Amino acid sequence: EPSKEFMFKYKGFYFGVNTSAEHVASLENFEIKDSDIFIATYPKSGKNGTVSKEEINLPLFNHLIAAVPKFFFLPANTCNLIRATCPSERQEGSHLTGGAQCLPEAEIIYVTRNPKDVLVSYYHFSKFITTLEEVPDFNIFMERFLAGKVLASSWFDHVAGWYGHAEDFNILFLTYEDMKKDLRSAVLKICNFLGKKLSEEEIESVVRQATFENMKKDPRANYENLPDDIADKSKGRFLRKGTVGDWKNMMTVAQSERFDEALNEKIKTLPIKITWD
Ligand code: PPS
Repeated sequence: EPSKEFMFKYKGFYFGVNTSAEHVASLENFEIKDSDIFIATYPKSGKNGTVSKEEINLPLFNHLIAAVPKFFFLPANTCNLIRATCPSERQEGSHLTGGAQCLPEAEIIYVTRNPKDVLVSYYHFSKFITTLEEVPDFNIFMERFLAGKVLASSWFDHVAGWYGHAEDFNILFLTYEDMKKDLRSAVLKICNFLGKKLSEEEIESVVRQATFENMKKDPRANYENLPDDIADKSKGRFLRKGTVGDWKNMMTVAQSERFDEALNEKIKTLPIKITWD
């Protein structure tokens, strides 16, 4: 079981102790404007790479981190929303349960990443971020992940929940793997979705800035500004590898089979094809 020192359960979802049930409850009445843009992902799915340029009105996510003291991952099978546009008076992460009532015309970008890479990235992240429980035994961490006993709860429920709302909201679905393969196309899709017209140079500049290599060099994008009591920089970096298929370097054949056994049947019910490598 996850340690209560790090997580609590509210309405069936796991939250970090850096927030409170009262705060989460208050967000259910969070007012959403039609002009809002959200990026929604299960943790470790490439949210920070999806973004990132004023031109397309999605500032680098770390600006948000700096601005939102009560930041947390907002789990729900329906809405895991991170406000990506942040006019100064509205700098709040937003969690809304129940789905249908939650998003009028706001624009949502939902990013999925293959869950083995998510698991491995999450495992490393738990060592680096001190407010997450460090689970040294990878098998135990994997079992918790498969049981949804991690922050943001079940990967499958999260993804299935969002795809289940594909028709209800204005959502652009992207995958981490497609973005890695062709960042420029992803940028164009985002611009198109948001109705932003960029010049050729601006597109080039967004693409350049959103590459892993360039983000890694940017101390803001790499969370270098997180204080030591939140990030143990001797144990890792936020922008760790940024590749597709890194799970193969971590998971044994037996672990991978166990993972498949637990999740593959469910994954087949998703309307997307997962790219594993
Ligand atoms: S978080 O902590 O949940 O907000 O993390 P998130 O940004 O969703 O996901 C972090 C992983 O995405 C990788 N990443 C990138 N990969 C490629 N290109 C870019 N620009 C990029 N930005 C973030 C990041 O390195 C984490 O994955 P791993 O596999 O751990 O490297």
